[in-house]
Amino acid sequence: MNVLVTGGAGYVGSVVAEVLLEHGHGVVVVDNLQQGHREAVPPQAEFIPADIRDARAIREVFERFPIDSVMHMAAETVVEYSVIDPKRHFEVNVVGGLTLLDAMLKHNVGELIFSSSAAVYGEPQSVPIGEDHPQVPINAYGESKLMFERILDWYARAYGLKYVTLRYFNAAGASQSRGEDHRPETHLIPNVVKVALGMSETVSLFGSDYPTRDGTCVRDYVHVVDIAQAHVLALSAIGRLSGKAYNLGSSQGHTVLEVVTAVGKVTGAHVPVAICPRRPGDPAVLLASSDRAKSELGWEPEFPDIEAIVESAWRWAKAHPRGYRA
Ligand SMILES: NC(=O)c1ccc[n+]([C@@H]2O[C@H](COP(=O)([O-])OP(=O)(O)OC[C@H]3O[C@@H](n4cnc5c(N)ncnc54)[C@H](O)[C@@H]3O)[C@@H](O)[C@H]2O)c1
Repeated sequence: MNVLVTGGAGYVGSVVAEVLLEHGHGVVVVDNLQQGHREAVPPQAEFIPADIRDARAIREVFERFPIDSVMHMAAETVVEYSVIDPKRHFEVNVVGGLTLLDAMLKHNVGELIFSSSAAVYGEPQSVPIGEDHPQVPINAYGESKLMFERILDWYARAYGLKYVTLRYFNAAGASQSRGEDHRPETHLIPNVVKVALGMSETVSLFGSDYPTRDGTCVRDYVHVVDIAQAHVLALSAIGRLSGKAYNLGSSQGHTVLEVVTAVGKVTGAHVPVAICPRRPGDPAVLLASSDRAKSELGWEPEFPDIEAIVESAWRWAKAHPRGYRA
């Protein structure tokens, strides 16, 4: 299959591209590089620098390459920005998505795997969160992802689009050659690893008085390679599973302090923490039930262990202390 990976120069997208190539698929990456890195795109993939909102550029991609399916990862992803300036999130995540769908329809490409997020659920009413949990986003990022999920449903009904939605919780870790390099970096593990590398002094810990086992927030971390494998499974089963949404989580939560401890254990470094006030809108516990992905997709994470995840992030960061732009 020839797969178009939007956002394939980004963290998850580049690992998805790598894993698709390993499975023998052809890969075309479209990315505007606002957050991604040219160096992250596997050399065997075609790379087209373009913005998903640029209708003509996206149409040309479908004219040039015989695309069979699309994995749509390009997005505005920083939750905090979405609250203060939601315009960009809706423009890219909703309007950009529609531009992509339009080009797909024009070129009779009818299969899409969509990267959605735990943010569609909002404040959890029960944990672990199943796919049927109420969807009440508490930020514009989650709202934009939910809007696009709903658009996909209507496109399936009207135009016969086949799609699977994958709702990630926290992607973490690295493949052998690709890792996490966001600017700014808002994710916990790369920030703790930076302290272990001696590149920052402390890890900011937002809130230590949550009703959890050590007072810090509990989150669900999934190895980025396991996330990529779920995409390959979803692609191969899209005919059978079209219209379904799957959580990609581990069902095992780790507190922020437990992650800091795991980094200390793996790296042997002392990681000082700075206790900061809670951030608005941060739920105490975010934990996925991934039973549906396991039973219907046949997804079985290969690296469920937090230390294995941290180990891979540490290995990548040591080899790329300044990320891709070193
Ligand atoms: N990383 C996580 O833990 C996580 C969790 C839940 C959902 N997701 C979703 O997974 C996807 C990938 O996340 P990521 O962490 O790899 O993010 P990322 O920022 O590393 O990757 C997104 C890529 O999209 C590109 N992009 C952004 N706007 C674009 C545009 N207008 N046109 C073309 N390219 C554009 C960026 O340059 C970047 O390379 C996103 O859709 C994100 O919302 C990620």
